[in-house]
Amino acid sequence: MATEDMVGLVLGSGLGPLADRLEEVATIPFAEAGLPSSGVPGHDGAFLRGRLAGRRVLVMRGRVHLYEGHDAATVTAGVRWMHGEGVATLVLTNAAGGLVPERPPGSWMMIRDHLNLTGTSPLEGGARFVDLSEVYDRGLRAAIHAAAGRRGVELPEGVYAGLRGPQYETPAEVRMLRTLGADAVGMSTVLEAIQAKALGMRVAGLSCLTNWAAGMEGATLDHDEVMERGRRAADEMVGVLEEWLGG
Ligand code: HPA
Repeated sequence: MATEDMVGLVLGSGLGPLADRLEEVATIPFAEAGLPSSGVPGHDGAFLRGRLAGRRVLVMRGRVHLYEGHDAATVTAGVRWMHGEGVATLVLTNAAGGLVPERPPGSWMMIRDHLNLTGTSPLEGGARFVDLSEVYDRGLRAAIHAAAGRRGVELPEGVYAGLRGPQYETPAEVRMLRTLGADAVGMSTVLEAIQAKALGMRVAGLSCLTNWAAGMEGATLDHDEVMERGRRAADEMVGVLEEWLGG
């Protein structure tokens, strides 16, 4: 990665421990950046400036969701704020339901592409016809893959389907998503990725598969369990991101 790049990291459900590894931290509550504070447990909203593996990073701990009743512009306000602060490379993390039987809960997926099934866009009324043929930057993906390889962390690529929520999916919806080519499903990330791409940022997305999606064998859908799985898997991803940033 380019030396002067400031890296932005958006932390999903249960991935807060990533923030504990930051050094020289300054905290900026969401309200100070003009964002509503998130009311979801595990999403206490603040930006954290600091260093990870010696690099300057800006972490968005927690995010704003459509399912809290916010619109697409509000959900993506943090991305625009980070861009204004000088973030050129953005890594979006999330907790997601897995749609691939071979990828068990607790494993990670690198987002290669997404399905925006939220029915909305942060670009409504703004930039038109933005090219989304490569939202998730090929070079950035390769660099994070290399770091994961050095750490012995498996990071298969896949397609993330972003839905509005707040309810989990029905088994019929899960079958539909698999038919559509999705490998993971969640309630965030896609709008942020679209906004970041429209601003010219390099974007990567990492899904922590915290559970199998509804109707799949072994599926258990419980927010506390999702958070706990995220917490455990977070350590692994901290290692990969440190390896990438420091490498
Ligand atoms: N579905 C949608 N969002 C999620 C899931 C899921 O199964 N798990 C974590 N976030």
